[in-house]
Amino acid sequence: MKSLFRKEVLQMKAYHLERPLCDVKLNQNELPRDIPSAIKSQVLVRFVQTPWNRYSKPYSEDLCERVAAAVGWKSEGVTMANGSNVLIQALILSAAVRQVVMTVAPTFSLYRLEAQALGNRVVEVPLLKDFSLPKDDFLRTMRIKKPSIIFLSNPNAPTGNLFPEEILIEIIEKAPGLVVVDEAYYPFSGKTLLPALQQYKNLVLLRTFSKAFALAGVRAGYLLAHPSVVKEVRKVLLPYCLNVLSQIVVETLLEQVVLVQKWVMESLGERERLFEGLQCVPDVSPFPSAANFICFRVKGAKKTFKGLLEQGVLVRDVSDNKLLKNCLRVSVGTAEENARFLQALKFLSRPPL
Ligand SMILES: Cc1ncc(COP(=O)(O)O)c(C=O)c1O
Repeated sequence: MKSLFRKEVLQMKAYHLERPLCDVKLNQNELPRDIPSAIKSQVLVRFVQTPWNRYSKPYSEDLCERVAAAVGWKSEGVTMANGSNVLIQALILSAAVRQVVMTVAPTFSLYRLEAQALGNRVVEVPLLKDFSLPKDDFLRTMRIKKPSIIFLSNPNAPTGNLFPEEILIEIIEKAPGLVVVDEAYYPFSGKTLLPALQQYKNLVLLRTFSKAFALAGVRAGYLLAHPSVVKEVRKVLLPYCLNVLSQIVVETLLEQVVLVQKWVMESLGERERLFEGLQCVPDVSPFPSAANFICFRVKGAKKTFKGLLEQGVLVRDVSDNKLLKNCLRVSVGTAEENARFLQALKFLSRPPL
């Protein structure tokens, strides 16, 4: 019998993330603190005052205007969705079905998953040993494969490094199609290609409220690009995908940028302490990071992952990629969480006698 599903879908591996019980959850780069109750109450008051029986504007245009003002970009050049993952899918749907999608390896797995789901051939250029971008190799591959869309996460996940702006600009200038620079971790790196948007119509920036804004569970992300790009992406983006509650939460948090900045500063301080702590653990080598997580190499990734979990600490095993052999990734948590993690890691590397 003919299968009920497309062959691309049958061949795909489903997105899967185990969620074992743990005391210290450091596996998804979330902000370790929840939104203060006073702000949640403010959201609820606004939510009660909002009609639930009416559709809001199809593309959350009012909120896009607020985001545009906060970011410093034109509102016709902003579109929002229930998570930047949804925008990744919409971008591929608008620019690349049964084409070529290009990225690097290792990087955020969803670029590959979504590109494959839409029948694309995914070309991944391996990063160099120090996780830097092999510029000549990348440009050559781009010339030969002619990708309809390129995805680059900056800082890259799960490695945490930034790619130099000059290289990104050269790629954008020479690319035959869209270049999506995913700035999910921008608040922690402080580096953005926003000024380049004015000049390059094939450049798209992706941002999320899931990380620095502590809203992973609320689901909200946005895209910044030339208005002509937004116009096309909106044709395939499902209307009304950002529900009114998420819209209100984002609107309320946009009024709290000073607080968000404070959270980011706290995370940056903790990242430094965590890095120094990792450097002091025998047989552990952390890689510098511009995001709110640190990738580190251990003697045996699977064994260390399990050993940490047995002590109640959940990190991410990223060792599947060749370049990340024996590597794990830890999100920057609170001071207490980071201390628990370091203590658990030290316990694993203690001498047997
Ligand atoms: C590079 C990158 N982009 C996008 C996302 C997903 O963001 P969202 O929660 O907005 O879908 C993540 C989440 O881990 C990420 O690491």
